[in-house]
Amino acid sequence: MRAADDKAVKTVTFFRGDGIGPEISDSVFAIFQAAHAPVKFEIFNVGEAEYNRNGKLIPDEAFASFEKTKVLLKSPITTPVGKGFRSLNVTMRKKYDLYANFRPAKSNSAVPTPFPNTDIVTFRENTEDLYAGVEEKISDNEMHSIKIITRDKSERICRSAFDFAVQNGRKKVTCIHKANIMKLTDGLFLDVFYDVAKDYPSIEAKDMIVDACCMNLVLDPTKFDVMVTENLYGDIITDLTSGLIGGVGLMPSANVGTDMAMFEAVHGSAPDIAGKNIANPTAFLWSACMMLDHIGLGEYGDMIRTAIKNVMDEGVHTTKDIGGNASTTEYTDAVINEIKKLLAMAA
Ligand code: NAI
Repeated sequence: MRAADDKAVKTVTFFRGDGIGPEISDSVFAIFQAAHAPVKFEIFNVGEAEYNRNGKLIPDEAFASFEKTKVLLKSPITTPVGKGFRSLNVTMRKKYDLYANFRPAKSNSAVPTPFPNTDIVTFRENTEDLYAGVEEKISDNEMHSIKIITRDKSERICRSAFDFAVQNGRKKVTCIHKANIMKLTDGLFLDVFYDVAKDYPSIEAKDMIVDACCMNLVLDPTKFDVMVTENLYGDIITDLTSGLIGGVGLMPSANVGTDMAMFEAVHGSAPDIAGKNIANPTAFLWSACMMLDHIGLGEYGDMIRTAIKNVMDEGVHTTKDIGGNASTTEYTDAVINEIKKLLAMAA
């Protein structure tokens, strides 16, 4: 492990979000500081409070920062249901074409679940499908939402999944769809998947209808390796895969485009537990570690991941959502103590 001074400091844009966002953000700041991670965050408040203050969900300077740094760590943000502004997450993914949403779900020996051998990586297309936001009011009693699937965007997400499989020694990629009903849109996605699969003969290519996928995931998740799917199915299925490993508090994610990337936990702003100091910051921390890998600081990511694992294995300072009693800050302090031990051993 190198001393922090050996590394040039990297600048990363940070959105603080709302709900549990500020609490889990503080956890990341404290842990990065303890690890001497050479990262300077440009921090912005975004979301509803910011909107009410100056009429903009995301201040112009925050966009400018991301366009400069190309890397964003984003804590969760509340989206009003059925009214108000468009989801900020959807906005960011579309505006910067962060098309590949990478969501790994791996069982953790410290968190007992009925599914101890789960290791599934989902690639969710992030920019089109029903999330394209093309909705139309026909009358007070009829609303339409248009599903958009294109060949180019389907191809690049399928390639991302197969490339990942090859680079990470995975054996199988399963395409999740509903082409039996949506013959044109999902039919196109499925056709493209099998076309792309021809370029990756070493990887087994399979497909499954989304409802059957949900049943099979809870019957035997070890049947799945890498999955690739459209935007809406991916959103839903990855909450399911997070449930298999112990909940949304344990699931990180990356949204990757051609030259920009945004890292965030899969979970939302959890308003039901906001301000109570009980949120589990692990998913956000792991997302931050993926961000460190992405910017060439993987050794710091590894140190933080090891510290988290040690705290979880010990089982004394884990948060309520995974069966423990610790507060967010007690858990954070425990991770910091582990980091101090790791740094002392490496000195
Ligand atoms: P949610 O993921 O915020 O919460 C679902 C359940 O999981 C709640 O019981 C919550 O307490 C629990 N939970 C979530 N994160 C947790 C954590 N770190 N530690 C412990 N427990 C945790 O989903 P919900 O309630 O449907 O959405 C709340 C808000 O978040 C909505 O406005 C939604 O639009 C927004 N949202 C934002 C996302 C983002 O910014 N990436 C992603 C998903 C939802």
